[in-house]
Amino acid sequence: MTRFTVAIDGPAASGKGTISRAVAETFGFAHLDTGLLYRAVGKKALTFTDGPLDPDLAGNLAAHLTEADLAADDLRTAPVAQAASRVAAIPQVRAALLDFQKRFARREGGAVLDGRDIGTVICPDAEVKLFVTANDRTRAERRFAELTANGHETDLDTVLADLRARDKRDASRDAAPLKPAPDAHLLDTTELSIDAAVAEAVTKIKKRIGQGRD
Ligand code: CDP
Ligand code: CDP
Repeated sequence: MTRFTVAIDGPAASGKGTISRAVAETFGFAHLDTGLLYRAVGKKALTFTDGPLDPDLAGNLAAHLTEADLAADDLRTAPVAQAASRVAAIPQVRAALLDFQKRFARREGGAVLDGRDIGTVICPDAEVKLFVTANDRTRAERRFAELTANGHETDLDTVLADLRARDKRDASRDAAPLKPAPDAHLLDTTELSIDAAVAEAVTKIKKRIGQGRD
């Protein structure tokens, strides 16, 4: 099979990871959760400071990520998410992670990547681009349910404030801000079940495959 890239972007807890995993399984594509890259860098950054980090040092941390860094089981915490969003605004960090993501996207057999800048920067030529959204309260409720199910003590207002702060930083930064690519399909999951959201994504991809692979 040839190359086929699905780019899935959107704000925090919009459902892009869930949709990406289902798409990867349905079509046999490889999946890269690019948020994990930034979370792993953010976690390393926290070992130095929870304030601003020297940009070259941050870039260096990103350039030396290992498989083990990405497999750590504590990347999904709220402090790591905020640290990820801070290092993600540093151009040296994004530059260090660019090649790996671009190569992943064009691998043989198809790939789905989810993040913030996949359709705009990493893969502007992706065969299918989705921009997944949901209103912020719904997203906060989903993330809150996830965090509490995993034993994290928090409350809905804190989760909502964290989400809003991160979305604001992600959308307003100069380097690869969160925004839909002009040719992205918008998928609002506020009123959708997971199955319905996945079905919409699968339908779009099947339609594109039907038009012929490159
Ligand atoms: O990857 P992202 O942060 O965008 O979100 P996710 O991890 O895919 O989804 C966040 C949570 O919302 C998960 O627990 C999903 O099961 C849930 N979800 C949902 O309830 N309804 C949807 N339509 C999509 C996701
Ligand atoms: O799962 P959730 O949407 O909450 O977060 P994530 O996808 O794991 O991303 C964590 C942080 O990494 C985001 O808030 C962004 O600041 C950053 N990120 C990015 O800048 N570009 C990407 N392609 C993916 C994540």
